[in-house]
Formats: sequence, structure tokens, C-alpha cells
Amino acid sequence: MGYRSFALVAPLALAIGFASSAPEAADLSAGKEKADLCTNCHGEVGISQIQETPSLAGQPDLFVQWQLIFFRSGTRKNEAMQPIAEQLTNEDIRNLGAYFSSLSPPRPAEPDDQPALTEAGARIAAARRCASCHTDTFVGTKATARIASQREEYLVKALRDYKSGVRSGGGMAAMADVAYSLSDDEITALAHYLARL
Ligand code: HEC
Ligand code: HEC
Repeated sequence: MGYRSFALVAPLALAIGFASSAPEAADLSAGKEKADLCTNCHGEVGISQIQETPSLAGQPDLFVQWQLIFFRSGTRKNEAMQPIAEQLTNEDIRNLGAYFSSLSPPRPAEPDDQPALTEAGARIAAARRCASCHTDTFVGTKATARIASQREEYLVKALRDYKSGVRSGGGMAAMADVAYSLSDDEITALAHYLARL
């Protein structure tokens, strides 16, 4: 599994120039301008008000860039995103990554109508060592997503997509492997917990 994922990522890394010794600096204001294409769905300041559409504000720069590359190449499939990603140049992607990562992250979902579910989610996250990749505060790092305060129903969708194989994810870290053994109840609890961090 690890080798297969790596084989997928290595040529992409070369394609966008991550491997280049002198990457161009990102242009934040160009990223903000380009983000006009995104606000209808992802919200004015990267905070989504739409079901099954993720907030992007505060996501790690590289996570945003990689997902756009995956959509553009078709390794991540979504009807809303693919036509948009196909229009983006490598430079646009670099600038959009810089822009969305510079925005303040969403506030935690509230109120907590099911504290027992939140506690269950916290226990499962600890037992499954989600923090070992997503960091102790679940804000993500590099190509690993921020999952703290993401929309609850989007977290459920993402975990189900990994579990069913609709989404494979990139890099050596296989979310598909992580999600495969999660039950529906565990996914519900994890999403409820993470959305409230
Ligand atoms: C027509 C609505 C729409 C537009 C416009 C749109 N997106 Fe999206 N985007 C989505 C949806 C829906 C998803 C969730 C896809 C899925 O469920 O796999 C998504 C997912 C993403 C993701 C993955 C985030 C994650 O947490 O998994 C990134 C990054 C992203 N979009 C960036 C952008 C950028 C940058 C733009 C503008 C250049 C943009 N999107 C424009 C609807 C849209
Ligand atoms: C081995 C490292 C690793 C572990 C352990 C891990 N993750 Fe992930 N996770 C990642 C990476 C890397 C990504 C981005 C994958 C991609 O490109 O789709 C990710 C993506 C996600 C996403 C999608 C976020 C988005 O906005 O699209 C969710 C949700 C998620 N992880 C939840 C979890 C949960 C819950 C756990 C514990 C049960 C967990 N992860 C454990 C590495 C890990």
C-alpha cells in the first residue's frame, strides 16, 4: 500500500516542482484574487456554509495544494471540484495554498447537544492515534489535513469516502488504511468530536 501511494505521488511532486531546489515564492494577493472562483462554495473567508463542502480556512498550505493537484489529475474525483481544478495552473495552486492557509480557521461547532458522543469521539481518536499524524490539536501539518472544527457532516463524508475507497488520499500515510476498520458509529463519534475542537 505504502509503495503504491508513493509511486503515485513522486511523479506529481516532480510535475508541480516540489522537488525543485528553488521553488517560486507564493503570491498571497494573487491567491486572494483567484479565490473569487471559490467563495460561492467554500465561503467568503474560506468558511463554508454549505453541506458537504469543506471549510478551507486554516488548512495547511501543502494540504490545499495537494488536493487541488489530485482533483486536477483526477486521482480525487468530485463533480464540483474537477472542472475548477482543471483551470488552475501550478502557480495558481501555489498562491491558493498560501492564501487559504493564511486565513483564520473556522470556530468550533456549537452547541454540544451530545456530550457523551463527544467523549466517545475523543476516546476513539486517542485509541486510533489520529493525533500522531494530524498533530495534538488536530490542526494538521504539511500534506495532512486540519480536521479540528471542520464541518461535522463533511468529516463523516470524508471518512466514509476513504473507507469505501471513493477517496484514496496521497502520500505514504494511507487514510484508507486508517478508515477501513472504522465502524459507522465510530465515524459519527469522531466527526462530532472533531467538529467541536
Ligand atoms: C461549485 C462549488 C465549488 C467551487 C466553486 C469550488 N469548490 Fe472546492 N470543493 C467543493 C466540494 C463540494 C468539495 C468536497 C469534495 C468531496 O466531497 O470530495 C470541495 C473540496 C475542495 C478541497 C479539498 C478540501 C478538503 O478538506 O478535503 C479543496 C482544497 C478545494 N475544494 C479548493 C477549492 C478552490 C481553491 C476553489 C477555487 C479555485 C474551489 N475549491 C472551488 C466545491 C467547490
Ligand atoms: C498515518 C497518518 C494518519 C493517521 C494515523 C490519520 N490520518 Fe487522517 N489524514 C492523513 C493524511 C496524510 C490526510 C490527507 C490525505 C489525502 O490526501 O486525502 C488525512 C486526511 C484526513 C481527513 C480528510 C480531511 C479533509 O478535509 O479532507 C479526515 C477527516 C481524517 N484524515 C481523519 C482522521 C481520523 C479521524 C483519524 C484517526 C481515526 C486519522 N485521520 C488518522 C494522515 C493520517
